[in-house]
Amino acid sequence: MDTNADNRVNALNARADHFGVLKALLVYVWPANRRDLKVRVVLAFAALVMAKIVTVMVPIGYKAAVDWLTGEAGAGGVSSPSVMALTTVPIFLIIAYGVGRVMMIGFAQIRDVLFTKVGQNAVRQLAKRTFIHLHNLSLRFHLERRTGGLSRVIERGTKSVELIIRMGVLNTIPTAIEMSFVAILLVFYFGWDFLLIMGLTVTVYLWFTVKASDWRIAIRRELNDSDTEANAKAVDSLLNYETVKYFTNEKLETRRFDSSMADYERAAIKTYYSLGVLNAGQAFIFTVGLTLCMLLAARGVVQGTFTIGDFVMVNAMLIQLYQPLNFMGMIYREIKQGLVDLETMFALLEQEAEIKDPPGAKPLEVVRGTIKFENVYFAYDPKRPILKDVSFEVPAGKMVALVGPSGAGKSTISRILFRFYDVTSGRVLIDGQNIRDVTQNSLRAAIGMVPQDTVLFNDTIAYNIRYGRPDATDDEMREAARLAQIDDFIQTLPEGYDAMVGERGLKLSGGEKQRVAIARTLLKGPPILMLDEATSALDSHTEKEIQDALDRVAKDRTTLVIAHRLSTIVHADEIIVFEQGRIVERGTHSNLIAKDGFYASMWARQREAQKARERLAHALEHAEDTKIQARPDPVAAK
Ligand SMILES: Nc1ncnc2c1ncn2[C@@H]1O[C@H](COP(=O)(O)OP(=O)(O)OP(=O)(O)O)[C@@H](O)[C@H]1O
Ligand SMILES: [Mg+2]
Repeated sequence: MDTNADNRVNALNARADHFGVLKALLVYVWPANRRDLKVRVVLAFAALVMAKIVTVMVPIGYKAAVDWLTGEAGAGGVSSPSVMALTTVPIFLIIAYGVGRVMMIGFAQIRDVLFTKVGQNAVRQLAKRTFIHLHNLSLRFHLERRTGGLSRVIERGTKSVELIIRMGVLNTIPTAIEMSFVAILLVFYFGWDFLLIMGLTVTVYLWFTVKASDWRIAIRRELNDSDTEANAKAVDSLLNYETVKYFTNEKLETRRFDSSMADYERAAIKTYYSLGVLNAGQAFIFTVGLTLCMLLAARGVVQGTFTIGDFVMVNAMLIQLYQPLNFMGMIYREIKQGLVDLETMFALLEQEAEIKDPPGAKPLEVVRGTIKFENVYFAYDPKRPILKDVSFEVPAGKMVALVGPSGAGKSTISRILFRFYDVTSGRVLIDGQNIRDVTQNSLRAAIGMVPQDTVLFNDTIAYNIRYGRPDATDDEMREAARLAQIDDFIQTLPEGYDAMVGERGLKLSGGEKQRVAIARTLLKGPPILMLDEATSALDSHTEKEIQDALDRVAKDRTTLVIAHRLSTIVHADEIIVFEQGRIVERGTHSNLIAKDGFYASMWARQREAQKARERLAHALEHAEDTKIQARPDPVAAK
């Protein structure tokens, strides 16, 4: 399924490292020219630290309250609880405990609000940069790549930007800070042995989490694969609805679908099992550490070195720490997946465009619009040459036609003129300027392209016509439609110009689509015109309409026409006959007929076919007539 381009991206993937990706991401979180965002980052970080300070203070307050209640005021520095203190101080401490908890949540919320804008800005900038880059990449890249795959790369990439930032800023960094605070407090209040136990516990805990998560990632992949598989089978089966009915193969389809669903079922169950293993393991490891610490603290209480408050505090502090640690498995998995997705997107951003403007390229200056091909050789794939030594000229304002069998390389000429590809050798000149030396933008602005297969945007007809010149007025747009002979058709639509054309324009017929394409090229109004006639057979009436539209567009412009119906180019100033990428004949229509070569035989064949069609049409008409005559008169029969 993977195409060459996919493989290239994958190869790039392997080279990029996670650290590099994070560093590249940093540019978007700390954007050079956005002071406001930097201020936000700093404030959010301050809120984060504050939240964590309050978090670790809460167990200390808790301890003080317990000490007061149990009459061990040592920590508070008061000798023994008086009657008044018994009622007011613990109340004060308990309220402080409550306020602390509220502040803990409050600061965390402030941090989130402050940081959201930074994160969303990063997502938008990266998505925009990728989008621009994709339009800069050359046609070859886009043809080799599945468009659906590309949009998934962007979607996943931008999603993981958000995810990595959120997970990092809102969880990983805060947890690390909390752990350092806890470490300091452990040493300060309890001693090094506590720190050692907790240090070991957290290390084993994290090691286990990473191992178990890696195992779960594999299971997760299995789940995703079987999900995709089942989905693909269902879609394919329903797309082939009619075929399934032709062969009454519903049972077979159900079996295929169900066997994929069975895989999914197995993988889903495994996912839940593995989650259970992960959670249980984490709880076990942490509880061992916690219990050891509590045993030590209890011994201290018995020996009189610790108060009951201390005992409560160590428990509260560690249990509190367990909460963020518990998410570590999920966070590790998500960040790991996120980094892979992000790497794919960065690899895409590193793809070099094949066709580039040379440094200091000047815009194309079109004086009269003479096109010249000089000894052009070209191959899409070096192993298979397409154009061989092609030379011709389209003088300014004249019309030259390219004809020849399917696959001869006619449309290839149009792609080269538009600089979708560069020639292997030889030159293409417009008014004496090599198209490789001018900017692609100016070159493309000068050429109106009516492609062989027109694809439309899934929007209204008006939108698609106006695409030729987005600032055109309604009147100009309608005028273009009239000239392109599509206005009458649009009037018959209930929604007129606001009718939607459907995905890729599928709601319009081939002929209608091509006339929309002609209308938008008319609006663009370029000095040079490149028309690639549709191959699909059009009825002679539509053909005539398109022909008239084309003649109008071509008037006074340098025009290169690729024709399949020779009748449409009888009047061309020169006809160039291609066969297998070579020019085999050239001249005017009458010259070529007189020569009695390749063109003359193509002409004869098309005439023959045309005559046959006319005869058939005539015969059908005639058959209708005789049928009507032959029908017995019911009255006379009586
Ligand atoms: N992107 C591509 N990569 C590789 N080969 C290609 C590519 N596009 C076209 N070709 C090949 O180049 C040859 C010439 O194609 P081209 O589209 O120029 O033919 P054509 O003369 O316009 O034919 P038709 O009359 O059917 O439109 C064909 O054999 C085609 O298979
Ligand atoms: Mg073609």
